[in-house]
Amino acid sequence: DSAEKSGYEHFMLKEIFEEPQTLRNALMGRIRGGVPNFNEIEHLREEIEKARSLTILACGTSFHAGLVFQRFLQDYTEIRAEVEVASEFRYRRLQEGFSDLVVAISQSGETADTLEGIRKAKKLGTKIISLTNVVGSTISRESDAVIYINAGPEIGVAATKTYVAQLAVLLLLGAAIADIAGRSGFDIPKIVNELEGMPTVFENTLPTADEQCKRLAAEHSDYKHFMYIGRGYSYASALEGALKLKEISYIHASGYQAGELKHGPIALLDKDFPVFAIVPEDELKSKMISNIMETRARDAKVLALCSENDKEVAKSVNSRIEVPRVLDPIYPLVMSPYLQLFAYYIAVKKGLDPDKPRNLAKSVTVE
Ligand code: G6P
Repeated sequence: DSAEKSGYEHFMLKEIFEEPQTLRNALMGRIRGGVPNFNEIEHLREEIEKARSLTILACGTSFHAGLVFQRFLQDYTEIRAEVEVASEFRYRRLQEGFSDLVVAISQSGETADTLEGIRKAKKLGTKIISLTNVVGSTISRESDAVIYINAGPEIGVAATKTYVAQLAVLLLLGAAIADIAGRSGFDIPKIVNELEGMPTVFENTLPTADEQCKRLAAEHSDYKHFMYIGRGYSYASALEGALKLKEISYIHASGYQAGELKHGPIALLDKDFPVFAIVPEDELKSKMISNIMETRARDAKVLALCSENDKEVAKSVNSRIEVPRVLDPIYPLVMSPYLQLFAYYIAVKKGLDPDKPRNLAKSVTVE
């Protein structure tokens, strides 16, 4: 057991540190001459060209990857993209033609709700593209096209490197769909080029991220609650950060779109209820800073993930960790290891085993 951990205290930490290589493997062969390349969906080219709507199905962390994919398609194509939790989708009343395409996201390829979701969609005549990590898994066998994320086995129950792989592949797939559908008014080479550089960015930033997250986790491990907030692409990061924290540290945490605070959640905040703000240098930063000021006015301590050298955020929060500057849709990717490491070190500080959280299973094959 300890040999397989290659000197790391837990599989979770080992797997976070594998992320640069995970990204290399996920992107390998998928970029040709600066353009996304997915042979797996070539036979569905016509369906994709004609698609007006697309439904994304997933559960848990994969659902958060789905949120990023949804936003990307909404921003860069004219396809109506909707992501839905598979346990809800499978019981909806639907008719043929409800959606032109389905993209199912499942690390294990065995999640019962996601599997039943694709079976339902298939019966209604919709083509299924699935994104999974496990070759030959049930979901891969029952789909019309399968895209593997090639992350290798993940032992930690809470997803880490596989989330990063899902995001990288989904952003590229989004770029490929925008390309095929021919409706994007956007510079695909720019985003593809930045994605190609991500393994190196991860390699260069992980050691510092590790130290900073460890220090901040030590300062925050006694809180009973956490509120994660974000907007746009960062809403997915808020949900995923909160999920990681509750999964392995058992601290109550929830994620909100920062604009929703005023409609209820802000009533919870006081000096004992800190806010974890995901506030990159993107289109919505000034809105986020106003939201942060509202929470500060309730005496909440604010810890932020922000872009490097952002003086404005620095002035507005109690503590912060800086991440590299990237294009808006790529922020969920660069934010991931920081959210994972923060949750990891809080769990360790509390004397918990992050690899085996209570009540949770790696793959949920029953309803
Ligand atoms: C379980 C795991 C989560 C995972 C979810 C969906 O709850 O503990 O980490 O995100 O299932 O799994 P899937 O294999 O479908 O991505």
